[in-house]
Amino acid sequence: MGSLGISSRLGTHPGPFSLFVAITIGADLRADGFGENPFYHCLVAESLPGPGESQAGPCVVGYGLYYFIYSTWKGRNVYLEDIYVKPEYQGQGIGSKIIKKVAEVALDKGCSQFRLSVLDWNKRAMDLYKALGAQDLTEAEGWHSFRFEGEVMRKLAGK
Ligand SMILES: CC(C)(COP(=O)(O)OP(=O)(O)OC[C@H]1O[C@@H](n2cnc3c(N)ncnc32)[C@H](O)[C@@H]1OP(=O)(O)O)[C@@H](O)C(=O)NCCC(=O)NCCS
Repeated sequence: MGSLGISSRLGTHPGPFSLFVAITIGADLRADGFGENPFYHCLVAESLPGPGESQAGPCVVGYGLYYFIYSTWKGRNVYLEDIYVKPEYQGQGIGSKIIKKVAEVALDKGCSQFRLSVLDWNKRAMDLYKALGAQDLTEAEGWHSFRFEGEVMRKLAGK
């Protein structure tokens, strides 16, 4: 494999979209990510051809999808909604590289922290986040994650 580049471009070629559409059913990713006020941003990890190797175009091997949130206590904040590396590329430092890049973007935008959530069975991912210095907020502060959706949300909104 050649070198790995991480950029913030998404959608200039079809690769990332097929990747996303496969896992996010019904979401209009193009409109939501590329409208006037994008709902999200995305870092894309690409495998670039090595010297002498030919490749039709960059091959997307992973991504980190994030957006900006705001904390009454901490101010500007980034939420890393999803991070994914193709199975055959896992364990090569790509996920760590994406996380480091998110940290860089967050700092460049004046954020004091970035957050993410992980399911409790995903021990390897948790180990990775901890190894990179993240704090487990459930363990440390007892936070629980809640959501309102669908009918419940419509009922609340009276719609
Ligand atoms: C979690 C994930 C993004 C990490 O990316 P990665 O490129 O494999 O991570 P790195 O190579 O930088 O770091 C490797 C470390 O990540 C952890 N890890 C988590 N899942 C892993 C996997 N499936 N394969 C290899 N390492 C994994 C391990 O702690 C590993 O350290 P080790 O090699 O000492 O065991 C990637 O494994 C992945 O996409 N998994 C499936 C989707 C997922 O679970 N996303 C997280 C949702 S919160």
